[in-house]
Amino acid sequence: MIPGALERALPLLDPDAHDRARPSAAGYVDLLGPASPGSTGLAQDLMLGRVVPAVYERWWRPALGRVAKGVLGPGMAEEHRIARLLLGLSPGDGVLDVACGTGSFTREFARTVGDGGLAVGIDVSETMLARAVRETAEAGLSGTAAFVRGDASELPFRDASFDAVCCFAALNLFADPMRALDRMRAALTPGGRIALFTSALGRTPPLRAWQAVLAGAGGIRMFERDELVTALERRGFVEIRQRVAGFTQFVGGRLPDG
Ligand SMILES: C[S@@+](CC[C@H](N)C(=O)[O-])C[C@H]1O[C@@H](n2cnc3c(N)ncnc32)[C@H](O)[C@@H]1O
Repeated sequence: MIPGALERALPLLDPDAHDRARPSAAGYVDLLGPASPGSTGLAQDLMLGRVVPAVYERWWRPALGRVAKGVLGPGMAEEHRIARLLLGLSPGDGVLDVACGTGSFTREFARTVGDGGLAVGIDVSETMLARAVRETAEAGLSGTAAFVRGDASELPFRDASFDAVCCFAALNLFADPMRALDRMRAALTPGGRIALFTSALGRTPPLRAWQAVLAGAGGIRMFERDELVTALERRGFVEIRQRVAGFTQFVGGRLPDG
């Protein structure tokens, strides 16, 4: 049986996606079936297997995040705080967590928006999503958080469906991140907020060269420090904020009110 939040998420799908939507045995809505978007490299492949999702929240994400953000960079609790700050969620809001992984941010958003709101996580990985659904049920949040299997570059939601969109630790994995940003912007209501956490190239040529080698080996795209600020400006966002930490950056902004 489809839980409450999924029932409320289905009408937000665009008509084509709605026709393709199939409930999965694990409890998410599947828009892809056997067809997955092509892998962008090793980092992406690891997310699709069984091992990384099993250790992702407790070990993988905090450890790799620490390496990327630097010893003085924000820890996971601080990342959650930054997401909260940039998204400005209130009870009753609708929030989309793009490339949600095992859903730790999605669940936190669900707690904030409460029963009158809705948190939707979308990801391409069946194993990540199965875990997200299970942990969300264990946390008693299935009425507020729903999960969809789909491609972030072709976000399958009707325009102006969400008050806030988050995309943490994933834009650098997408084949077409600017297309994904277009779709995130379209999914937002007037006044909607966006929060991004992704890679940032260093300033010095030796550092940049070393980063390029590492990132290339893992299939991770490195963004220039001004690239996403400019990308948000071009898409009409205002009040854009950025914090760079090590090889990473947090960027947020808001659409003007309608
Ligand atoms: C490093 S995890 C980030 C998870 C979570 N947002 C976080 O901050 O911990 C990256 C996620 O991006 C997902 N992903 C990669 N490419 C995707 C795509 N094209 N569409 C949807 N999800 C994608 C992977 O399956 C993986 O779960």
